Amino acid sequence: MSVLIYDSGIGGLSVLREARILMPEFKFVYVADGAVFPIGGWEEEALVAHLLGLFDDLVARHNPQMIIIACNTASTIILPHLRERFDMPVVGTVPAIKLAAEVTASRQISVLATPGTVQRDYTRSLIAEFASQVNVRLVGAEDLARLAEDFMLSGQIDTKAVNKEIRDCFVDRLGARTDVVVLACTHYPFLTNVFRRLAPWPVDWLNPAEAIARHAQSRLPQGGAVKDVQDIAEFTGGEPTPQMRRLLSGFGLKVI
Ligand code: DGL
Repeated sequence: MSVLIYDSGIGGLSVLREARILMPEFKFVYVADGAVFPIGGWEEEALVAHLLGLFDDLVARHNPQMIIIACNTASTIILPHLRERFDMPVVGTVPAIKLAAEVTASRQISVLATPGTVQRDYTRSLIAEFASQVNVRLVGAEDLARLAEDFMLSGQIDTKAVNKEIRDCFVDRLGARTDVVVLACTHYPFLTNVFRRLAPWPVDWLNPAEAIARHAQSRLPQGGAVKDVQDIAEFTGGEPTPQMRRLLSGFGLKVI
């Protein structure tokens, strides 16, 4: 019984981490779609065509029980297509705008995401539906997924560059300051400690990974035997670097 987890890179590992805790009986196939990384600047039509071709192949080869799109940017456009095409449940990643609107005390929230996620109607309709009573600042970060990826692979971080990407999240309207920032890209939770250090004041950084894993768990039969096979990872877009292989095997994934 396998579950396919997709991201454009290593961001989906933040979801895999939680999914494994809740669903230890499933074998996970992690797909890092390096061919599209960074996914935030892709045109919608080309991206849909790419993703449909990729998923046709992945589903044929792995026959998964479920697909988890652990990528906000891909989720904003591909979920209806995949649900129509395949029989198994397809779980997406939705920016936690509803939760942010519920927990904010200052009524100032920010959504930190890729430029693609920020532009899409999907994100705007979430705001209209769930956050019409609060001020929402949308922040499209051009380079933050790459900075997160470099950090995971090398341990090095360019804090000046990170600061430039996140500073627009902090709004002060006559003393009403942003108190919640939605991490609407699965790469960003890996930088949360860096964000905390750089933030001009404390905020809640909302990471949706656990909620996604819980939702996924609710859509699958429970209670099977703990698996005795290793989780695997596969790449698109060429050979993974030695650092990438090391990172993935640190996550218990065998690269195929
Ligand atoms: N992790 C992806 C997301 O959640 C984006 C990473 C990228 O820019 O490719 O949107």
